[in-house]
Amino acid sequence: MHTATMMDVSGLRSRLAAHGQEHLLQFWDVLTEGQKKSLYNELNELDLDETCGFFKRTVASLNEEQTKLDERMQPIPAEMHGSVTRTPLEKINDYEEAGLREVSEGRVGVLLLAGGQGTRLGVSYPKGMYDVKLPSGKTLYQLQAERLRRLQTLAEEKFGKSGVIPWYIMTSEHTKEPTMDFFARHSYFGLEKEDLVVFEQGMLPCFSFDGKIILEQPYKLARAPDGNGGLYRALREKNVLEDMERRGIKYLHVYCVDNILVKMADPIFIGYCLSKGADCGAKVVEKAFPTEAVGVVCKVDGIYQVVEYSEITLKTAQKRNPDGRLTFSAGNICNHYFTVEFLKNVVYDYECSMMHHVAKKKITMVTPEGKVVKPEKPNGIKMEKFVFDVFQFSNTLAVWEVIREDEFAPLKNGDGAEKDTPTTCRHALFSLHHRYLLNAGGTLIDSEGEPLPLIPSPAAAPKCPTFENGNTDFNYNDNQKEMRWDECPVVVEISPLVSYAGEGLDELVANKKFTCPLQLTDRLPKKTEA
Ligand code: UD1
Repeated sequence: MHTATMMDVSGLRSRLAAHGQEHLLQFWDVLTEGQKKSLYNELNELDLDETCGFFKRTVASLNEEQTKLDERMQPIPAEMHGSVTRTPLEKINDYEEAGLREVSEGRVGVLLLAGGQGTRLGVSYPKGMYDVKLPSGKTLYQLQAERLRRLQTLAEEKFGKSGVIPWYIMTSEHTKEPTMDFFARHSYFGLEKEDLVVFEQGMLPCFSFDGKIILEQPYKLARAPDGNGGLYRALREKNVLEDMERRGIKYLHVYCVDNILVKMADPIFIGYCLSKGADCGAKVVEKAFPTEAVGVVCKVDGIYQVVEYSEITLKTAQKRNPDGRLTFSAGNICNHYFTVEFLKNVVYDYECSMMHHVAKKKITMVTPEGKVVKPEKPNGIKMEKFVFDVFQFSNTLAVWEVIREDEFAPLKNGDGAEKDTPTTCRHALFSLHHRYLLNAGGTLIDSEGEPLPLIPSPAAAPKCPTFENGNTDFNYNDNQKEMRWDECPVVVEISPLVSYAGEGLDELVANKKFTCPLQLTDRLPKKTEA
C-alpha cells in the first residue's frame, strides 16, 4: 500500500505514451505490489529519450548502410599490415623485446571482454569458467591467468624489473557475480586480488521490429548487454580509465574470452604496434574461406573499420585479387591493441556518436494474454555496439597477421557442432604444445617407440584418453577410450607457468622421449625416458 502511494503511475504512463511504450504497463492491474514496485523502478530509471533514440537511429542506419558497401571497401594498406610469416625473425625478436620492456615497466594492461551470454555454447555460467577437458582440468580463465603470470616473470628475467599487468575484466549483469566468485574461490589463480579489476557493462532493452520494448515477464523488461563495444561507456561510467592512469598503464591488450590459444598481452603484437606508432591495433588471421564467421579488418570510404561477418555481402566476401587470394582476408580474431591516450579520446569525446548494430534474436517475451513464450524464430532486436567500431577514430591502425594454428581456436559451440567446439579447442592446444615440444628437441613416441607424426594419419592414430572434470590422474590405460583419430591425435599439455609460447622448454625436454598423455607442469614430467 505504502509503495503504491509513492509511485506516480499516471506520470509514468504519460511519459511512456509519449514514446509509444504505454504497453509496458498493460499488466499493471494484475501485478502484485512487489511486482509493481519492481516494474515501476525499472521504468522510472530507464532513459526513454536515449533508449528509443538508439532504436530509431539504429533502424534508420540499417536501411542506409548496406548500399554499395562493395564499392566502398578497401583492404588495409600493405605497410600497415604486418605478418608473422613475412617478417624476419630478428625483427620479431625486436618487437618482442620492446613489448617485454613495456611489461617490465608496468605500462601494459589486459582487458577481457566477458560480458557475452554464451548462448551458442549453451552454458548458463560465464564462458571463461568452461573446462574443455584438458588433462589438467584448467578452465579458460585459469589458462589466461597463468599466461599473465608467466609473461610477468619473463619480462622481469629479461629486464630485471617486475611490472604488474593488471587484468581488467568486463562482465555483464549475468556474468559479474559468478566470475568474481570463481576467481575468489580459486585464490585468483596466483594473481594479486587488487590486480584484477572486474566491472560491469550496461544493458539495453530489446525491441520488437516495430519499435516496442519487449516485456520478458509482465513486470520485467527483456534486456541484453549492449555489445562488447559497451566497453567504452563502461570504461567511463565505472571509472576504469582512472584506474589505468593511476597505475601508469599506457597500452592495453583487449581480447575476447573464448580463444583457448590467446597470447595474453602478447609482447610481439605490442612491440609491432609500438613500432608503427599505432593508436589502435588488430590481430588477424588469414580468412580460411569467404563465408567464415569472422569480421574483416578493412577501410570503408578511407576509414578503418571491421565489417562484421553478419554485415558483409557475399559478393564482397568472395572478392579475389588477381593472385586468387581473398581481397578481404584480414580475419578479425578479437585481439586489439589500444593506447590509453586513444581510449581517453574515445571514451570522453566519441563514444556517444558510435552507432549500435542490430542483432535479430529470439527474445523471450510475454504474450498479451500474459503467457511467457520462447519464440522459435527471431521476434525482435538487440542493440549492440562493437568493440572495433572505434577504429574509425584511429589515426594509425596497425594490423598484425598471425598463424591461425598458433593463436586462434575459439570456443563458440557445444560439442557436436562442426567447428569451434571444446574438442577443436583441446585439439588445437595439444597440437600447438606438440610443436613446442618438437621445437625444443623432445619427441613424442607411441607404444612401439615410434615418433608420433605432427599430423597423424588415421593408421597412426593413438587411442586417446578422456579426462573427467578435475581428474589429474594420467593412467593411460585406465582412461583409455576409443575416439576418432582426428579428434585426438596427441595429448600434450604444457602449463603456461612452464612456458608462455614455447620458450624455456629445452632443459625439460631436449633429447627426451615422451608418451601420451603428457602433461608438463612446473614440476619435471613423470613420463620421461632418456
Ligand atoms: C567476435 C568478433 C568477430 C571476430 C570473432 C572471432 C565482435 C563484435 N565480433 O565475434 O569480428 O571475427 O569474435 O572469434 O567483436 N561480449 C561482451 N559483451 C557483449 C557481447 C559480447 O563482453 O555484450 C564479449 C564476449 O563475452 C566475447 C567477445 O565479446 O568475449 C566476442 O563476443 P562474441 O559474441 O563471441 O563474438 P563473435 O560473434 O564470435
